Amino acid sequence: MKKREQFTGRLAVVLAMAGSAIGLGNIWRFPYLVGQNGGAAFILVYIVACALLAIPVFLSECVIGRRSGSSTFGAMRKLAPGSNYRWAGLVTVITPVLLLSFYSVVGGWSVDYLLKACTLRFTQDSAGVFEELLSSTWEPIFMHTAFMVGTAIVILLGVKKGIERFTKVTMPLLFILIIIIVVFGLTLPGAGKGVEYLVKPDFTKITPSVITSAMGQAFFSMSLGVGTILTYASYVSKEENLMVSAGGTAVFDLLFAVLAGFAVMPAVFVAGIQPGQGPGLLFDTHPYIFSQMSPWVGAVISILFFLSVLVAALTSSISLLEVGVAYLVEEKGVSRTKATIGLGALVWAIGVACSLRGGVFDFLDHLCSDWLMPFGGLLFAMFVGWKMSKADVRDELTNGGTRNRILFNVVYFLIRYIAPIGILGIFLTILLG
Ligand code: PFF
Repeated sequence: MKKREQFTGRLAVVLAMAGSAIGLGNIWRFPYLVGQNGGAAFILVYIVACALLAIPVFLSECVIGRRSGSSTFGAMRKLAPGSNYRWAGLVTVITPVLLLSFYSVVGGWSVDYLLKACTLRFTQDSAGVFEELLSSTWEPIFMHTAFMVGTAIVILLGVKKGIERFTKVTMPLLFILIIIIVVFGLTLPGAGKGVEYLVKPDFTKITPSVITSAMGQAFFSMSLGVGTILTYASYVSKEENLMVSAGGTAVFDLLFAVLAGFAVMPAVFVAGIQPGQGPGLLFDTHPYIFSQMSPWVGAVISILFFLSVLVAALTSSISLLEVGVAYLVEEKGVSRTKATIGLGALVWAIGVACSLRGGVFDFLDHLCSDWLMPFGGLLFAMFVGWKMSKADVRDELTNGGTRNRILFNVVYFLIRYIAPIGILGIFLTILLG
């Protein structure tokens, strides 16, 4: 069997995990969900969903990955030979394919916007750019194709590590740019309304569907329930303090999303954009912000911004394609090239359908985020909470009993009871409601 690609050093794995987690989910999806689900109340529910459901699942995936040293199928075989959990591997094949197909369409929009930024399209009036893009049949498909080909090339050439090293620069850059955009946005006349919208919760807005979306977004944003984090964790060395580095990555992901919300929402109110308009929110708002800056500043910042958004999207999309490719290579003996091209073509074709039909896009987004990913997460949490021995889990999360001993009890309780009951409870509420 071929030796698995190894990460060098502790920072590399954490960076890869963060690279997978931080992406369009934080910058594109979170702000528009905030707008669709009532602002501050959604953010609150989201934070609770992260703390009680997503972070415990994140740590569960890390425990399984590091304990077994393999990706999902192998991990289940090693840790629970012969058990029905071996089927859990299936969610890690089906979900990434469906997810990547619409993710790549949005990735394509970012490619398009990067090109537009480079041609100084956002230095003047930018209204209607997104509508124009969507009204064309071929442009979004062409850009989706470019994004998908880019993703496949990275996997084929095995330059994933190279790209991930690149995130050392682009991720902090994106972070700084978002802060600049937040600060600039706050200086726009009338921005206060947007801030109020983000910090003053209206609790009557919390409905079962808001809770479902918050849970789905938490899983989406932290790349959970598809085996990505599990697989990355299989490369983490035994000395690493898993609780701290994985937990830190998850918290950072949350922070990034909230910050992105603050970058978008004030400008939405200033420009009179509808907060609940849906997936186009980022693509309508940011050009507006750039057009309000002085021309050269706007030009430079818009280029850097869409470039770093694109890299963030790519590090997430390669992690998605990689899980499917790894499955075909490791479990089915398919060659890496064939697996990448075959799977890439399948994802591309479904993506074309998403690009042509908004209904397909929405359906797949809803199916993956609100059902499949939490379902995968549920399986992983139950596996750690009920199938693995507590001693093994403790060993992983406390580094052989030397660290986080008190925190462990809290985390274990969340993994064993709260996360599974919470996820199941939300599923049942939707099914019965
Ligand atoms: N977490 C990524 C984002 O927020 O953009 C999306 C994602 C990547 C989900 C990888 C799942 C995954 F396996």
